[in-house]
Amino acid sequence: MILELKNVVVNDPRSNEVIVHGSSFIVRKNTCLSIVGESGSGKSMTTKAILGLTNPWLKISGTAKYKGKNLIGLKQSELRKIRGKNICMIPQYAMTSFDPLYTIGYQMIETFVENLGISKEESKKLAIESLDKMLINNPEEVIKKYPHQLSGGMLQRCMIAIAIAMKPDIIIADEPTTALDSINQREVVEEFKRLRDVTGTSLIFISHDLGVVQSLADDILVMKNGECVEYGTAKKIFENPQHEYTKYLIDTRVSLTESFIKAMEKGDTDDVCAG
Ligand SMILES: Nc1ncnc2c1ncn2[C@@H]1O[C@H](COP(=O)(O)OP(=O)(O)O)[C@@H](O)[C@H]1O
Ligand SMILES: [Mg+2]
Repeated sequence: MILELKNVVVNDPRSNEVIVHGSSFIVRKNTCLSIVGESGSGKSMTTKAILGLTNPWLKISGTAKYKGKNLIGLKQSELRKIRGKNICMIPQYAMTSFDPLYTIGYQMIETFVENLGISKEESKKLAIESLDKMLINNPEEVIKKYPHQLSGGMLQRCMIAIAIAMKPDIIIADEPTTALDSINQREVVEEFKRLRDVTGTSLIFISHDLGVVQSLADDILVMKNGECVEYGTAKKIFENPQHEYTKYLIDTRVSLTESFIKAMEKGDTDDVCAG
């Protein structure tokens, strides 16, 4: 077990509102935990709380033990080290987190120099290698591009490549497929599967759609209104869901394969929206 949450509560003392009502789950080595639930259910907040990325006025309690060390209450300086190296977060709308003024390569190299303490030359080599691992063609050319010159799917792949290069124990991917069309969604899910096989990293994969995580998740945590309503192995969740809300998510899930095939039939691979 690499991460263990026990009763993590996030509340906002300004409004006295409880945002996350007590989250408990474990992440095992080289497995994927998926957090699933509708928008506003507290998925992002749960993972931000673990990494100290919540607004400073929010109160967090409970324990989140990473390799036995409780992350809740750690100093920002210590958390920053862990975020840079051990637990990497690919934030929601990661595509927009590239700076439009600099090339992708420049930004990758800066990240590696700062977080891995390696030289610029080594960083450039690592940038090309990790893009290559994501099966991106001509990585030497891709790193010369500015963000606006690349598609959303491609930028998402570059983000994943950065996370891979850091060789963290855990990658947290917050809705990495939500802004993508169904073709790219399916490919990005495949890439996360490959990433896990190749690197042996553990994964926390957040999505509002059970269909997206179906082929990827080993364990699933279902959230609704800040509460964990169901938690178990993916097999158990899909075969024997207990909570009404989980049943609803199963019934309304989008089949990535289905929408992919439909798009292929129509010969329309550009702007099919799964949803
Ligand atoms: N900085 C904040 N302060 C107070 N409440 C917030 C803050 N950010 C988000 N929230 C609230 O927390 C709840 C959970 O948000 P979030 O974790 O982003 O949901 P999800 O990722 O599941 O869509 C939402 O109701 C949202 O309005
Ligand atoms: Mg979110």
